[in-house]
Amino acid sequence: MKSKSSTIFIFFLISVSSPLLEASNNGNRLFKSEENQAPEIKRSDFPPGFLFGAATSAYQVEGAYLEDNKSLSNWDVFCHSAGCSKDGLNGDIADDHYNLFLEDIDAMHSIGLDSYRFSISWSRILPRGRFGEVNPAGIMFYNKIIDNLILKGIEPFVTINHNDLPQELEDRYGSWLNQQMQEDFVYLAEICFKYFGDRVKYWVTINEPNMFIELAYEQGIFPPSRCSEPFGNCIFGNSDIEPLTAMHNMLLAHGKAAKLYHENFQPKQGGLIGLVAHCYMFEPLTDSELDREAAKRAFAFNVGWLLDPAVFGFYPEEMRKYLGSKLPTFSYEEKKFMEKSVDFIGINHYSAIYVKDCTNSSCSATGNCAIQGFVDKAVESDGVLIGERTGLEYLFVVPRGMEEIVNLIKTRYNNKPMFITENGYSSPDLQEQRVSELVNDVKRVEYHTSYLAFLAKSIRDGADVRGYFVWSLLDSYEWLEGYNVRFGLYYVDRKTLIRVPKLSVSWYKNFLKIKVFLWIKMH
Ligand code: BGC
Repeated sequence: MKSKSSTIFIFFLISVSSPLLEASNNGNRLFKSEENQAPEIKRSDFPPGFLFGAATSAYQVEGAYLEDNKSLSNWDVFCHSAGCSKDGLNGDIADDHYNLFLEDIDAMHSIGLDSYRFSISWSRILPRGRFGEVNPAGIMFYNKIIDNLILKGIEPFVTINHNDLPQELEDRYGSWLNQQMQEDFVYLAEICFKYFGDRVKYWVTINEPNMFIELAYEQGIFPPSRCSEPFGNCIFGNSDIEPLTAMHNMLLAHGKAAKLYHENFQPKQGGLIGLVAHCYMFEPLTDSELDREAAKRAFAFNVGWLLDPAVFGFYPEEMRKYLGSKLPTFSYEEKKFMEKSVDFIGINHYSAIYVKDCTNSSCSATGNCAIQGFVDKAVESDGVLIGERTGLEYLFVVPRGMEEIVNLIKTRYNNKPMFITENGYSSPDLQEQRVSELVNDVKRVEYHTSYLAFLAKSIRDGADVRGYFVWSLLDSYEWLEGYNVRFGLYYVDRKTLIRVPKLSVSWYKNFLKIKVFLWIKMH
């Protein structure tokens, strides 16, 4: 009988550094602050198995807003009734990812992505929430995405909810302001685990509840447009209370869905589940003790508000101190499942921002509010901007912030596994630019290389970060900004929907080329 032996050869294929990479590294000189100077960065600076990907969300790319029995979502209704963005456009067609997803998966494959983060359109798979049937066409659509990704060796990384929900849930009972929404969300999550969980190994329950709630229930600029003075002048709402109620419902919805996954699905399916926070790096405006405390408070009132309950089962001490009995509490049973609710933390990080104390100095009307933690935010100190401007007035290029935020989260949450679930750049002043200029996105390449360099530094210092997703794969519908703010690796022509790779596609391709090939020889 012939004996069988196996040999394993491991090859490292190092790509020759391209002129583009050299240009982008030199480009780091453009960042003003010394601390933002980033060293050269290679794929091999990241641990084996680290996932590099790109992200999108359903309403921003899918379009097909009424195809195949999808119902109207809150964003469909918001956009159709009030007009929702600066350019007067909406997500009815978006990038038509619903019909062009195969082409998009080919694009991901050609870049060499390890993973694709996308979200489920709730109204596509459960048009009436738990009050109606599952929509087979919706299930089929996501099955096709998942199967085709896997066929190309791309790991699906699925967000169950990213801002959009069936309008019926808003009309029936006020969506996130009502406890019933917990039940509806768990129902949706169970459908996702049941139908997709055999192939999906990374789940995010909800994208950025902290940012979504601020925009929807505090400033009232996202649907359901609820707020009160001094945050805004909405017809309905209460900016002091409703954000707290909505967050509590979102947290319990997340916690209950995670419990269901951990108990009924994870043992068989073997995946991981987490929650994604929008994470500014809050820096004190001055070196005073008060501003340093204010920066800590800003973290607690933004990131801690979401992540402390998901990791420890209670709200941050600072919030309890300043909000008192307004802040909801978790029962003993709720605490038990909440504190075990995340296998990983998802970090959406784009920018840093300055923070100033308002307990002891005069501030803006909103800075004086308890719900904000008595802090004001500022983008410049002594007339100098915190970083270069981007296409969004509240986001700046501050690469060092990546290392700082990861280290902060690592320390506060005992180095729970982390993924950078979004990081991306949009250029300012794009409206008059020609396509040839738009696709020559040197600044985006500089942004990613420098942020990645600071991320690698935090990983070298022990942070357990397991993946990085560029926001976004495609130029897409950027909420209130419409289509003029572009985060994509691919430019999308609005008339033809043709995708044109930007310079950043070649950069990402080159960067990802440094792969470890595992060759198993059997004889
Ligand atoms: C959101 C995305 C959005 C991006 C850029 C993130 O906070 O998750 O939906 O497009 O920021 O503004």
